[in-house]
Amino acid sequence: MMKAVRCEPVKTIPVWLMRQAGRYMQEYQQVRSRVSFLELCKRPELAAEVMLTAVKRLGVDAAILFSDILLILEPMGFQLEFAPEGGPRIDNPIQKPEDVDRVRELLTAEPLDFVMDAVRYTREGLDSSKPLIGFAGAPFTLAAYMVEGGGSRNYQNVKAFMHLYPEKWSELMRRIAISTARYLNAQIDAGVQIVQIFDSWVGTVSEEDYKKYVQPHSKTLIELIRPGTPIIHFAPGNPMLLPLVCEAGGNVFGVDWRIGINRAWEIIGRRHAIQGNMDPSILLTDRETIRRHVQHIIRQVDRHPGFIFNLGHGITPQTPVDNVIALVDMVHELGQVSP
Ligand code: CP3
Repeated sequence: MMKAVRCEPVKTIPVWLMRQAGRYMQEYQQVRSRVSFLELCKRPELAAEVMLTAVKRLGVDAAILFSDILLILEPMGFQLEFAPEGGPRIDNPIQKPEDVDRVRELLTAEPLDFVMDAVRYTREGLDSSKPLIGFAGAPFTLAAYMVEGGGSRNYQNVKAFMHLYPEKWSELMRRIAISTARYLNAQIDAGVQIVQIFDSWVGTVSEEDYKKYVQPHSKTLIELIRPGTPIIHFAPGNPMLLPLVCEAGGNVFGVDWRIGINRAWEIIGRRHAIQGNMDPSILLTDRETIRRHVQHIIRQVDRHPGFIFNLGHGITPQTPVDNVIALVDMVHELGQVSP
């Protein structure tokens, strides 16, 4: 995995999956029947155990910290809940421009120390050959939750806010970028080998708006991350943004199924690695169909160094676990790079 991240030749294409520990897995459901999701995130030993169980069961080549991009919202002044159905909810979202003034910039990551403990426990229990990936939300995606108050179909409130109050928007994004950089640097100090930035919902903005309202802040965040730790920049949803996402920075670019691997490489250049890009819905089909899709992706990679197999988005709760295990085995089998 570390070789692939650095675009060095590998023997076998590495694979890990976004949301590899989650509701599709029975072991996870068992833990969740005892504790809420937020509580689980705040109990480092349990969070580590959940991720280590998934890594062992699937045989993936990397672990990602078990946590959530939204945890940083609490110390920044938001009341966060995860409803049993319907996902995350913020009870005091930003509604007026003045609301930005109450958003707290994190001077240290201390309020999130439980995350750093989870990093230490996970690292301790993980095979030394496998990197641990730390992560955070990108400024736009976190701002979207702060303004929308939860998930959204069209992100109209956050986009209207950005256009109506460009100065307040810029200040909000600045506070998020600086806080997030401190948070990621604390994860690096605690022992992660790679960091991934999730800009999960940025695909909803135009190229012009990305350049003007998003890119400068993603760039600030990336520049503030301590040099030496590889950064995976994941910004799915709108492949037209890829050149601009690339300009914002990162070592590996996470892409989804909306763009082919080869076209993505043409855009980002061979000096950078790619992570992706199977459609998670393929995991709801059968082994033959899954195999065909794995084969197709690996043929496109054509033994070029710098590829990490993943999905274009997270595994969904409806996914049969056996298909996920089979997928990992297929990548290891078909992804052997013979000299
Ligand atoms: O296994 C892993 O990938 C590691 C842990 C992880 C979670 N969330 C656990 C989680 C990671 C890396 C995330 C990132 C995250 N969280 C993102 C970016 C990734 C993406 O999907 O684009 C986003 C947008 C969130 C916000 C979030 N958290 C949503 C929208 C939801 C509810 C919907 C859903 O998919 O479940 C969550 C809850 C959440 N985060 C769960 C898990 C395992 C499910 C909680 C439960 O048990 O009910």
